[in-house]
Amino acid sequence: MNRIDMTSTYLVTGGAGFIGSNFVHGILNAYTDVKIVNVDALTYAGNLENLESVLDDPRHIFAHADIRDRHAMDALFALHKPDYVVNFAAESHVDRSIENPSVFTETNVSGTVSLLDAARCHWQDGDGWGMHRFLQVSTDEVYGSLPLEDSSALFNEKTPLNPHSPYSASKAAADLLVQAYGDTYGMPVCITRCSNNYGPYQFPEKLVPLVINNALNHRKLPVYGDGLNVRDWLYVEDHCRAIDLVLREGRSGEVYNIGGNNERANIELVKTIVEYLSRHTDAAISTELIEYVTDRQGHDRRYGIDASKIKQELGWEPRVGFDEGIKLTIRWYLDHVTWITHAVSGEYESYYEKKYGNEVNV
Ligand code: NAD
Ligand code: DAU
Repeated sequence: MNRIDMTSTYLVTGGAGFIGSNFVHGILNAYTDVKIVNVDALTYAGNLENLESVLDDPRHIFAHADIRDRHAMDALFALHKPDYVVNFAAESHVDRSIENPSVFTETNVSGTVSLLDAARCHWQDGDGWGMHRFLQVSTDEVYGSLPLEDSSALFNEKTPLNPHSPYSASKAAADLLVQAYGDTYGMPVCITRCSNNYGPYQFPEKLVPLVINNALNHRKLPVYGDGLNVRDWLYVEDHCRAIDLVLREGRSGEVYNIGGNNERANIELVKTIVEYLSRHTDAAISTELIEYVTDRQGHDRRYGIDASKIKQELGWEPRVGFDEGIKLTIRWYLDHVTWITHAVSGEYESYYEKKYGNEVNV
């Protein structure tokens, strides 16, 4: 984002998580005269260390609150009168949704309705301050799965919703509710559906930081099934730039797909990380650490994004190629080992033990 002057108030939810915190940093770097109200419940995935450098910035106001708490949301809207609302807050990990679906419907569905409705009331009843956009950060997973055999098949914005996991079903439900608020009340909503992100501040339960953290600790690297499931990887800063563009210039009621045009099989990605680490850190890190483990239940085979709409309408394209992005990412984790140590202490240890303990030992 280029640094320019612009007076706007953003209400961002989930801004202590991976993508949300990258978005907060990106906006504060891009605009001098801006206010961000960052609403986060600080679940296991929320981490104030992600925001350390901006906690004293007067343009950034952190509100420790749950989007399901309607009174708290009403109070925040009344106080800050945001121009833009971006809903990142969610339970985001597919494996956890398989273990415990209900918290996913509570946050991702009920929480989104609570936030949406607070936004609607202030948008309708507000005394002329106006809310320009409510943007729901959704996912390509709502479209379901593509076959490996046909690499030309891609998800576009008209692809029917066909989610398979409790996580993606909860995100699809939220998308439908956001669209309903646009259709019923005329609220200025947009939805973005992005592919897999990687970059700084990602919680180490997700594949990229999990592999980095495990390799650095000489732990086995768990690869589900045959390792041939394909994801389309996008550097997180490119996602954040796309979100801000849709917020400001997207058409109301529209969905925009966002993707990296960078499909990789999981095993290929894991080997890329291992290779980099073995060259730059410790020769003992090798592909010997890779262990094929029991597949994820209902594991989507392939995601692939057609992002031509956002390119044609808004001129967005990824700027960070995979070779550069993955090096930046690995470098960041190597430079932030304390951050990893703090992130994986506490709840994550028991999660990891329960999930991988019998198959992937230290
Ligand atoms: P994350 O798990 O890293 O962060 C989620 C944040 O939301 C955390 O800070 C958490 O404390 C907060 N949160 C959770 N429940 C809350 C609640 N009830 N009230 C307020 N805050 C709450 O997630 P992420 O990877 O940064 O994903 C952010 C959003 O982007 C999610 O909506 C996700 O579905 C979507 N998304 C993620 C990816 C990806 O690759 N990570 C790709 C596409 C879309
Ligand atoms: O596509 C966008 C989605 O990407 C987001 O909506 C989700 O919030 C985000 O978590 C991510 O979902 P995935 O399930 O694709 O990400 P995850 O990092 O969990 O897994 C990536 C791939 O790696 C997937 O095919 C499962 C596999 N995997 C994952 C883990 C954690 C493994 O093989 N081993 C593992 O230990």
